[in-house]
Amino acid sequence: MTDAAASGGDLLITDIGQLVDPGKGAFSAPLEVVGDAFVWIRHGRVAATGPMVDLPGDATGTPVFDAGGQVALPGLVDSHTHAVFGATREHEFEQRLAGASYEEIAEQGGGIGFSVRDLRTRSEDELVLLSRPRLAAAAHFGVTTVEVKSGYGLATEQELKMLRVVARLAAEPKLPRLVPTFLGAHALPAEFANDRAAFVRLIVDEMLPAVATESLAEFCDVFCDRGAFTRDEAETILRQAAKLGFGLKIHADEFVPLGGTQLAVELGAASVDHLVAVDEAGIDALAGSDTVATLLPGTSFFLRLDRHAPARELANRGANLALATDFNPGTSMTQNLLLMVTFGCCFLGLTVGEALRAVTRGGAMALRRSDLGTLIPGAGGDVALFGVPDYRHLAYHYGMGHCAATIKSGEVIWRQDEPGSRFPA
Ligand code: NIG
Ligand code: FE
Repeated sequence: MTDAAASGGDLLITDIGQLVDPGKGAFSAPLEVVGDAFVWIRHGRVAATGPMVDLPGDATGTPVFDAGGQVALPGLVDSHTHAVFGATREHEFEQRLAGASYEEIAEQGGGIGFSVRDLRTRSEDELVLLSRPRLAAAAHFGVTTVEVKSGYGLATEQELKMLRVVARLAAEPKLPRLVPTFLGAHALPAEFANDRAAFVRLIVDEMLPAVATESLAEFCDVFCDRGAFTRDEAETILRQAAKLGFGLKIHADEFVPLGGTQLAVELGAASVDHLVAVDEAGIDALAGSDTVATLLPGTSFFLRLDRHAPARELANRGANLALATDFNPGTSMTQNLLLMVTFGCCFLGLTVGEALRAVTRGGAMALRRSDLGTLIPGAGGDVALFGVPDYRHLAYHYGMGHCAATIKSGEVIWRQDEPGSRFPA
């Protein structure tokens, strides 16, 4: 699938110190580095890349962007966020620092429940205003595509409101490309506390058809875990979603394995996300399947869980891996996808090359977008430029604002040295 909006951008990026395309090669193969390189983007798509000496003659006349020796990668893909929300939840961060767990806070009415009560009081316009700078900040880290989930509405009109916010922001040229996901099954809302089945029916009979009618989401996700939805509830919702044409995703095995991972593979889901508590049966199911294992090491870090998803075993068994921020006000308050690259290395045991593949091609696969996360000719013209001497600094020199410019479909959407540009945000 491609963007209708991905047209028009013509740009010739010259004098790239290291051109690295993690979209090429096997997941664990060393990355290929091309020195003194160019990327030529025509009509918003990659026309050619290579060493400057091979620059095609017909590229002359294209507006030039001099990279000044910087490192270029395909625009990064953040394939799992909850970036539309109202209030932040720093009070819960302090509660966790004082010893409370995420699940305890949720049981006491905090967590997702807090964000739901808050979001229901806010207008669509207000949510657009709050979400715009939060999404713009992703581009400050080289991110050109962001998946955004609903799931803080949990009532039909409220979920539609959230997704309309995403649709409005998706039309803004200076923001990253947005991919909307319907996550009505994020938590059981208080008004259905005594009737789970009725809430599942509401999702199946009312919410999913309404979201489909307005074409407001590409994917449907379910939070399948202790304290959220069961495997059978997830299956009921996702089978209906598949019938209506949605791609599928599952939040699974964050706290306990309920079979959500196996269900994701069985249903041909695009991704299964979290996997901190995945068991051998889940790993067996993922090995060699097309369902991407999306790992969110920022969440384990921020929740102070002392365990992480078994990335090394998954990679060794041939699973496709993505890394994402899980950006949300409760469990992962960051848009910094490069930090997930460092966490992928230090907490999950990935190599720098694997971690960079996981935030480019891996993220793109989790969104079923083979034209993103790579710079092969014909791919979307998304490029991230970084002011580092060597691409390995993107993992090694961690937590920094290395990104110098972010280009989406051949258009510069953010530059660090632009007047009024802010970093970090
Ligand atoms: O992916 N696990 C469920 N949902 C989010 C948390 C959302 C929240 O706490 O607001 C997650 O971590
Ligand atoms: Fe999530």
